[in-house]
Amino acid sequence: MSDSHLTFCFLSSILALIVITFIFTKRKKPTLNLPPGHTGWPLLGETIGYLRTYQALRLGEFMENHIARYGTIYRSNLFGEPAIVSADAGLNRFIMQNEGKLFEASYPKSLGGVLGKWSMLVIVGDMHRDMRNISLNFLSYSRVRFHLFKDIDYHARRVIFSWKHNSTISAQKEARRFTFNLMAKQIMSLDPGKPETEQLKTEYVSFMKGVVSLVPLNLPGTAYRKAIKARSTILKFIEAKMEERAKRVQKGEAVEEENDLLNWVVTNTNLSNEQMLDLILSLLFGGHETSSVAIALAIYFLPGCPRAMQQLREEHVEIVTSKKKTGEVELTWDDYKKMEFTHCVLNETLRLGNVVRYLHRKAIKDVRYKGYDIPRGWKVLPVISAAHFDPQHFDQPHQFNPWRWQGSNGKADNNFMPFGGGSRYCAGSELAKVEMAVFIHHLILNYNWELLEGDEPFVYPYVDFPKGLPIKVQATSSSI
Ligand code: HEM
Repeated sequence: MSDSHLTFCFLSSILALIVITFIFTKRKKPTLNLPPGHTGWPLLGETIGYLRTYQALRLGEFMENHIARYGTIYRSNLFGEPAIVSADAGLNRFIMQNEGKLFEASYPKSLGGVLGKWSMLVIVGDMHRDMRNISLNFLSYSRVRFHLFKDIDYHARRVIFSWKHNSTISAQKEARRFTFNLMAKQIMSLDPGKPETEQLKTEYVSFMKGVVSLVPLNLPGTAYRKAIKARSTILKFIEAKMEERAKRVQKGEAVEEENDLLNWVVTNTNLSNEQMLDLILSLLFGGHETSSVAIALAIYFLPGCPRAMQQLREEHVEIVTSKKKTGEVELTWDDYKKMEFTHCVLNETLRLGNVVRYLHRKAIKDVRYKGYDIPRGWKVLPVISAAHFDPQHFDQPHQFNPWRWQGSNGKADNNFMPFGGGSRYCAGSELAKVEMAVFIHHLILNYNWELLEGDEPFVYPYVDFPKGLPIKVQATSSSI
């Protein structure tokens, strides 16, 4: 073979290799069909607009404008990452049902800094499954029914019966008092009003401010820095409780609080101290903040709908009247089960109030949905509240209409997702509903109330009443 022949062969092989590589790379990297959208400013993206405060009874200007412009699935840049936002109920369900397979929870790192690296919101995979099992055990239907119910009733009465006729109270603060006392008792057997419980509450308030702070900077004076400090004080507090328990067990002393979470975790799990502390803090956080806002929302909605107020009162008067006939005094699980219209009010409150607006996820595989690509590693935000405001799913969605739930036997349709879904479905949903129903029971039987100072709920992005929802309460003539 001549030299020129060899050179020709060599060059044609190189050329063939280039062509093959070109075709192969072209094939391997097809152009992505990303949802439409806008990535906003460098680094910040559209985060500021996304987090801007808005009235809670709407989806918010940012979401409404983006949906009108791009549709219910759009791309953006949020929290420093490229993101897909989904206001599509179908995609939201798909995301939640594919937890661990195509998507996984991915809350901002700053949240892990305060809630802890073992927090339920932060962990994924096997560790999440184990911690979830512990939480489900603590919050199981039968435990709520046979163990927590009495306590829920006691703590609701304790708060509600402390109000004076014709006084002004902060409904939000009172609802928080109720849910905090209940959780502190259930988790660590702390009694309301005792100095240690009050100290924990004060620390917890600082902690909460940091969890929800929009500027998670660990700098002197910031809410975030204060929250990290409060977290370490709370953890020391819980640790001291655990040591005290362990000593008593060693001494062979009876541990009366054997039914609280602390004892259960110490005796039934292999969790490390740090894991136990983060779990306890997660449950204190998850179980206190959300349900108290839900109760405040119900207190806010009801005066605007006198017919619902009337029907609700009739239902509860009927329950107590029939109990009186049998000489029964205490509220029971059977009474709770009779609260049919109350359940319609609860569902409607959760639908319109949307305590949790959206979830944080990331795609762990390349995903294709309805022709759109969601690239691996991208942030994904299922906006679970969007379907609740969609007239295709709920007629006249901005109206508070508890009757829309009548005949549903308490079962909601699958576009209603206040508690999320899939393998991260809220572990405390049953507890939350019982807390709301029992609180409403005592409230409606004992008081009329009017809203003051025109307070209304806003999204910060957590839902809150800026003035604490001040109400004036008047004891009903038939206070029970
Ligand atoms: C109206 C009140 C409540 C609402 C609207 C609510 C909503 C939610 C939502 C949407 C999630 C899913 C988060 C995600 O997928 O990333 C969740 C998870 C969770 N919730 Fe609730 N929640 C409420 C009350 C409670 C209560 C009373 C507890 C009791 C301690 C609780 C404990 C939890 C826990 C432990 C998780 C994590 C579940 C997991 O990751 O497996 N929640 N909640």
